[in-house]
Amino acid sequence: MTASPVLSRDADGVRILTVDRPDKLNALNRATLEALDAAFAAAAEDAAVRTLVLTGSGPKAFVAGADIAEMNGLSAIEGREFSLVGQRLMRRIERLPKPVVAMLNGYALGGGLELAMACHLRIAADTARLGQPEVNLGLVPGFGGTQRLLRLAGRAAALELCLTGVPIDAARALQLGLVNRVVPAAELEAQTMQLAAQLASAAPLALRGVLDAVVLGGECAIEEGLQFETAQFALLFASEDMREGTGAFLEKRKPQFRNR
Ligand code: COA
Repeated sequence: MTASPVLSRDADGVRILTVDRPDKLNALNRATLEALDAAFAAAAEDAAVRTLVLTGSGPKAFVAGADIAEMNGLSAIEGREFSLVGQRLMRRIERLPKPVVAMLNGYALGGGLELAMACHLRIAADTARLGQPEVNLGLVPGFGGTQRLLRLAGRAAALELCLTGVPIDAARALQLGLVNRVVPAAELEAQTMQLAAQLASAAPLALRGVLDAVVLGGECAIEEGLQFETAQFALLFASEDMREGTGAFLEKRKPQFRNR
């Protein structure tokens, strides 16, 4: 049996998924896209998983893109399928009912940046480099990059990155709002795990409400988004965790959320 291209380990409610093809800078071939899709689907269903961290193996790369060697041999019909498999994975991550943090430990290029942008939060090592270099291959981003980059960082940045194909450093990515935080490479894991632990101890139903309202709300008109926010807000009054959170505040103690 061949080893899975995605490693999984759990620590106190946090599932850490690692793309594990370091000799190919964790490039996304079809098998890796499918393994990631299955791993995220399983994590969504597993009540013990409260939050996820996604990263890449080795010191150089988060993910250096879709697998160029594999793409080189595809027909147009197969290329469409490859794009749809990638887009499906990215959408699954974006719509996951639990927070996903991308830990950018190096190159996040092409499909790697698309993968990072599908996650809810991004922490980058100061050594990371981000870009959409597909144009250098005679391609356009095909896993949602043109759309998510546009929405995250605006039209000027999306056009600059996609038209030039030139990668940017982590500091510039922070300026553009493309990452939430930049930390020294030596502190990346500790700081990411600290954030993940915080998310893992929060009220899961409230986190889910935030993810639904922000992700879906960002895709519709404000009137619809506001109605949606009210529906999420109202629903949480039916949860035990809301009584616990408000009760703990009034009793001046730390809340214990139970995902109910
Ligand atoms: N697809 C397939 N293989 C890839 C890859 C990708 N996207 N990115 C890197 N690799 C492979 C290289 O072919 C090489 O394999 P080999 O040792 O069998 O020759 C290995 O990973 C190491 O990469 P290498 O290029 O030698 O490392 P480097 O440190 O010199 O350069 C990069 C690093 C990221 C600048 C360079 O690998 C690169 O430009 N990669 C492609 C980025 C890209 O265009 N991504 C978008 C794809 S849509």
